[in-house]
Amino acid sequence: MKVLMWIASLVLVIGLPFVLVYHIQSQERHVVYDDEQNGLNDQIVIKISHVVAENTPKGLAAQRFADLVEQKTNNKVKVEVFPNGSLYSDLDELDALERGSIQMIAPATTKVSQLFPELNLLDLPFAFPTNEAVNQALTGDLGQDLLEASKTDNVIGMAFWNNGFKQVTSGLRPLVKTEDFEDQVFRVMPGKAIESQFQALDVDTEEIVFNLTYRNLENGTITGQENTLSNIYSKKFYEVQDHLTISNHGLLSYIVLMNRPFWDNLSSDIQKAIQESMTEVTAWNLEQAVKMNDQALQKIEEKSDIKVHELTDKEKREWLNELSIVYEEFEPIIGKDWLERVPGITE
Ligand code: LMR
Repeated sequence: MKVLMWIASLVLVIGLPFVLVYHIQSQERHVVYDDEQNGLNDQIVIKISHVVAENTPKGLAAQRFADLVEQKTNNKVKVEVFPNGSLYSDLDELDALERGSIQMIAPATTKVSQLFPELNLLDLPFAFPTNEAVNQALTGDLGQDLLEASKTDNVIGMAFWNNGFKQVTSGLRPLVKTEDFEDQVFRVMPGKAIESQFQALDVDTEEIVFNLTYRNLENGTITGQENTLSNIYSKKFYEVQDHLTISNHGLLSYIVLMNRPFWDNLSSDIQKAIQESMTEVTAWNLEQAVKMNDQALQKIEEKSDIKVHELTDKEKREWLNELSIVYEEFEPIIGKDWLERVPGITE
């Protein structure tokens, strides 16, 4: 008995410090970051998850938004940005937002078009003739009305950001005529408007998450893809593709979504600071998108032997002829009133 008691005391003496240290460390792991010594319970954390590189129009806008919100709220709000799909992939980020594991995402509009069908109109082929028309649409009445339509109990649309016009690349052959799409297997983002465009061109498609696209282009599972120049550059798709066509055939814009219960619970002061930051960053992002795509093309041409073709107006019309069926398909999905607001390239 004495021996047993002696062993028990020994275990207690040796074990207790370990238990205490573990307890303190695990408490520390759960402490919220707090620069300014604000009360721990008062600090608000916004986690933003996105899938692109930091040096892209969306990556930079997210970081700028984080800095501005912290500044304007005097660090009462801490914004943590998780780029490159490091927290959630494009497949998971909407679910994570809806259940409140993160507070903000900025997915390509097509990726949430099942939830908000009106957004399909931003992904229709040749819907916008110029960057100015895009900016006007995203920040003007059309954008405002689309944001109004983009609300559920769990998410709320805050703004549209942009990445610019999409281009196409291929490892098989130059893409100039619509027949050149024959036998191609394209990586596409999810979304009905995009699916029907490629169906109209007779292209097989694979919905592959953004950050696995390079690998699939490299190993030949897919022969091509569509994306903006800044994404083609920052994810190095140009290294594993031989042909790039500047087609400007579609738009890659983002809807910034916030978790709605989180948003509704914020004080009006904090909401105001967030909204002001969003407006500032949105204006900045729209300018950056255009600049960064121009720079990306230059860098792609400097760093690779990829052959670049810019579609002529005549070639664009030929593509649009082939793709116009998509507009007919979408009339019942989006509604005639919305469709009439698409400027199209004839203007
Ligand atoms: C893609 O999946 O190609 C894009 O949506 C990535 C992005 O967010 O720009």
